[in-house]
Amino acid sequence: ITLIFRTAAGTETRVPATPGQSVMEAAVMNGVAGIEGECGGCLSCATCHVFAPEGLGTPGPDEDAMLDCTEVERGPRSRLSCQIAVTAAMDGAVFDIPAAE
Ligand code: FES
Repeated sequence: ITLIFRTAAGTETRVPATPGQSVMEAAVMNGVAGIEGECGGCLSCATCHVFAPEGLGTPGPDEDAMLDCTEVERGPRSRLSCQIAVTAAMDGAVFDIPAAE
C-alpha cells in the first residue's frame, strides 16, 4: 500500500508500506524527513510524532503520556507513528508531519 507524508509546507512524499509494519517504520525506511523514530518504536522518544488522519483509533495511555513530550505541541490528531500499525485499509492515508521549530 502507499502512505502519504505531508510537510507543513504542503510537500507530499509517497512511501510504500506493508501491513504489519508501523507507520514510523515505513517513514524511516523511506527517509521521510521529520520522522526520526529514535527509540525504534519502544515509546520513549516521541520523535515519531505525526498528525494522523481520522479513524485510526486513539492513543493508549502510555502513548498519550509520551505525546506530552513532543517537540511540536500536540493537537487533537496527534499520534506517535510507531504505535500505528499499517493496515490495508490505510492505502492513500495522509499523515501530516509536525513543522520543525
Ligand atoms: Fe520513539 Fe515512537 S519511535 S516513541
